[in-house]
Amino acid sequence: MTGGLVLEGVTAGYGAVRVLHDIDLAVADGSITAVVGANGAGKTTLLRTITGQLRPSAGSIRLTGGAGGKGGKGGEGGKGGTDLTRVPVEDMVRHGVALVPEGRGVITELTVEENLRLGGLWRKDRRAAAEVLTQMYELFEPLARRRKAAGHQLSGGERQMLALGRALMAAPALLLLDEPSLGLAPKVTASILGMLRRLRDDTGLTVLLIEQNVRSALAVADHGVVLNLGRVVASRPAAELAEDTDLRHTYLGF
Ligand SMILES: Nc1ncnc2c1ncn2[C@@H]1O[C@H](COP(=O)(O)OP(=O)(O)OP(=O)(O)O)[C@@H](O)[C@H]1O
Ligand SMILES: [Mg+2]
Repeated sequence: MTGGLVLEGVTAGYGAVRVLHDIDLAVADGSITAVVGANGAGKTTLLRTITGQLRPSAGSIRLTGGAGGKGGKGGEGGKGGTDLTRVPVEDMVRHGVALVPEGRGVITELTVEENLRLGGLWRKDRRAAAEVLTQMYELFEPLARRRKAAGHQLSGGERQMLALGRALMAAPALLLLDEPSLGLAPKVTASILGMLRRLRDDTGLTVLLIEQNVRSALAVADHGVVLNLGRVVASRPAAELAEDTDLRHTYLGF
């Protein structure tokens, strides 16, 4: 499955309150795009809109490539790809879209292994699910050592690994992450973000990464998007954005 993402003219918000205004954004298949911006810029709202928890009042959201081929739902065809605005939130995972939400989304009462198994639950092929579980323990060694530990016994870094592992259990084409570095030590952040790069290189995963940790995010990303008050104010190669001191001062506060 491949999972490029294209947003065109997306406007969304809560009730009468518009938060996102006319968002154009493209994530190339097999690349990492970082979306950065100040508190309240609309980053989480953007992820909620892509994953169907919120529906846009205008615009289109399409998953490009082969990811939409399953079951014919979601309005494939037309301009190409799957129209995600028509995919029910609970079907997103079947279309190859997985979210690691803000605050990690680990069920703290369940063990590491139970959390991971939940991520692969929708798979009918049990053997494939078991194989992916083994792969997750290879990828995240600290989790292999703690497979019987409950979520609440994990460190912040282990919890973030578990949240990522759980999302990956679904073998997504497109992975969306909301501030994975929140509350983590710099070394742990570097290891988690480094893992995203490895996944991109090894499996062709497409990643949309929301971060307040701008430097780290732009260091791992291919492309960078700056969101300010619900509008895209810059969209450029990540390395170029990282060098733009004026833009950083104006929108990112450093
Ligand atoms: N459930 C909600 N109902 C109404 N307004 C909301 C809701 N959630 C967020 N907002 C508003 O939408 C705007 C964008 O919020 P959002 O959470 O998307 O920003 P963010 O960029 O993720 O911020 P942060 O960096 O703090 O996580 C804010 O003005 C916020 O107050
Ligand atoms: Mg947020």
